[in-house]
Amino acid sequence: MGDSWVNVAERIGSDLHLELTGPGGRRAALIRALREAVRSGRLAPGMRLPPYRSLAADLGVARNTVADAYAELVAEGWLTARQGSGTRVAERAQPLRPAARVPKKAPARERGPRHDLRQGTPDASAFPRTAWLTSYRRALQQAPHEVFGPGDPAGRRELREALTEYLARARGVRTAPDRIVVCSGFAHALRLLFGGGVLRGPLAVEAYGLGFHREVLAAAGVRTVPLPLDQDGAQVGRLGRERAVLLTPAHQFPTGGPLHPARRAAVTDWARARGGLVLEDDYDGEFRYDRKPVGAVQGLGPEQVIYIGSVSKSLSPAVRLGWMVLPERYVGAVLEAKGEREAWASVLDQLSLADFLTSGAYDRHVRRMRQRYRGRRDRLVAALAEYAPHIEATGIAAGLHAVLRLPPGTEASAVKAAAWQGIALDGLAAFRHPETRMAEGDGLVVGYATPSEHAYGPALEALCGVLPPP
Ligand SMILES: Cc1ncc(COP(=O)(O)O)c(C=O)c1O
Repeated sequence: MGDSWVNVAERIGSDLHLELTGPGGRRAALIRALREAVRSGRLAPGMRLPPYRSLAADLGVARNTVADAYAELVAEGWLTARQGSGTRVAERAQPLRPAARVPKKAPARERGPRHDLRQGTPDASAFPRTAWLTSYRRALQQAPHEVFGPGDPAGRRELREALTEYLARARGVRTAPDRIVVCSGFAHALRLLFGGGVLRGPLAVEAYGLGFHREVLAAAGVRTVPLPLDQDGAQVGRLGRERAVLLTPAHQFPTGGPLHPARRAAVTDWARARGGLVLEDDYDGEFRYDRKPVGAVQGLGPEQVIYIGSVSKSLSPAVRLGWMVLPERYVGAVLEAKGEREAWASVLDQLSLADFLTSGAYDRHVRRMRQRYRGRRDRLVAALAEYAPHIEATGIAAGLHAVLRLPPGTEASAVKAAAWQGIALDGLAAFRHPETRMAEGDGLVVGYATPSEHAYGPALEALCGVLPPP
């Protein structure tokens, strides 16, 4: 028997097809098809079926065939037939679904905290939508056809050229387009370098840092060795037999100070003498408030440093674009780790970022955000001076977060009290390398970029309310 399809959408208001197939003649096939349509929910309870004359015409079957099929399904309880209201799907004819697939209740959407003072994200309400759209449109209009084919794993040349100029000007990075490999952010760079077999551990890391990055490294089988910190930053003089060291020299994460100039020189000397490597995480290098920008360590030793940056703080972590500036000897291996074609960083976004950089929109955005974040930082400091003058904020000259130093033994209860008040933030302990013996003391890491402008004042007020007394 050939397939016979009919679209009965006009009559029952949904896009339903009946397929008359299988053994037993057309009547049996129609009964099966209608039963299945009810069972699966395509024909909902209460839905009116087409008069059997028109369904018969659509299906190319005899009217009696449809009339008999309807009658049988009425007898089985699938359909109801009432004078004046036609034939309908019975109200009790619920479609059967495997219980496991039916959630009892839609899962409630997770409610975020009332006040989000976690470090990590820029103000999402300040994404430069119009300027980004302008760059995206221009990039799309000017893109040659080959852009829509497989992408170069190194990244678009337009972006690498724009980054070469920008990083030299703004961050003191010495490079060339052929030394840059585009990636989807810092974490991706770590995965490529260590998971992709370019580098091996053990890797020295700062005793306080982002746990997520330690997890990425552990997943790649890399042992991390904590390097203690003091007021001058990571104690690079203690580097031992590690092959490489991961640092946040412009703004130690999370404590907030810059790496002392003598240590910047010392760590590049160490790398030169030992054939070692510095991984420089320049995650928020653009945001400096009270002092001159601290340039990249990479400028001191382009062959000793892998410089890694991304737009996650300057624009948005949703864009997922980052870059590695590599010593020449690593370029081939990193490209090999990336594979034959670009598989992570959208080529269209790369072109948009290239335009965003060369048109000056990136500088304008960073300037605007610098002003905004400085204003927020000042408000935090002023609120502390007024409501909690015994609490010092450190690491405030740069970045998007500060550390509030607390009296000894009060961090855990302050974090708990904050949670009770709907304030999301972390204590310093959350960033501590599990194997370090050094302790930074008690503190709260307060991200002041995340709340939108209108939410920041209430967030500060709530924060001051949970700080421990003198
Ligand atoms: C210390 C640190 N490094 C790097 C990054 C950037 O990570 P990614 O580029 O993977 O978003 C962040 C977060 O934005 C960070 O906090």
